[in-house]
Amino acid sequence: MSVPVFTVEDVTKIYRTGEVEVYALRGANAVLYEGELAVMLGPSGSGKSTLLNILGGLDVATSGRVTFRDTDLTSAGERQLTRFRRDYVGFVFQFYNLIPSLTALENVALVTEISRDPMRPQEALAMVDLADRMEHFPAQLSGGEQQRVAIARAIAKRPDVLLCDEPTGALDSTTGITVLKALETINDTLGTTTAIITHNAGIQKMAHRVFSFVDGKIVNMTMNDTRLEPEELTW
Ligand SMILES: Nc1ncnc2c1ncn2[C@@H]1O[C@H](COP(=O)(O)OP(=O)(O)OP(=O)(O)O)[C@@H](O)[C@H]1O
Ligand SMILES: [Mg+2]
Repeated sequence: MSVPVFTVEDVTKIYRTGEVEVYALRGANAVLYEGELAVMLGPSGSGKSTLLNILGGLDVATSGRVTFRDTDLTSAGERQLTRFRRDYVGFVFQFYNLIPSLTALENVALVTEISRDPMRPQEALAMVDLADRMEHFPAQLSGGEQQRVAIARAIAKRPDVLLCDEPTGALDSTTGITVLKALETINDTLGTTTAIITHNAGIQKMAHRVFSFVDGKIVNMTMNDTRLEPEELTW
């Protein structure tokens, strides 16, 4: 755990709407290392999603510096950010955003058809334990299964990093655990650097490292000497 993938230096993000200024980040600092699984905790409004969106090139910092490997994301233009997202980043959100008229396999294939070095969609779905549900439509799948299709879609292009914003937020804990197992398997077998935002503090025990956000800053980072398997988590 020593090659930095992301470095975040003194990052602020101010959203301006008319006269109103909202400070979403107020000097955040962090490093994410290759292959790690990081959990990000903190109260609502503390800046977790804002930072994740900046790491993933969906948004840009107001000041400070964010780098992805040798690339400075803070000075990148829109075209460079688009290429960065397409080639290196997988996103998983709370809501799965699957296309209802396409099967699980077709939802994943949509992405693999436009990627440089994709897995086969079948392989991606097998990684999230859905090999036997590939021909099903989203409406025929449970919430946890739909989220695992969304994870398969995110990893099928073999992204360098997987950024997950409350991936279990809409799920009960039993179902959430199947989703976390899928994320752990991917981190373990592909070495994909993974960040998971959650409100459920219990989830932190599966992480290599845990970042705590308060009021737009990362105020604490802890390393887990021993990690728990998703099956052992409770929340
Ligand atoms: N596009 C936006 N325009 C204006 N304000 C924003 C915008 N996005 C976020 N904010 C504000 O920035 C602050 C941080 O928001 P952010 O979404 O990063 O918090 P969060 O830690 O992810 O919270 P939650 O746990 O509720 O998802 C909040 O006060 C929020 O209202
Ligand atoms: Mg959020």
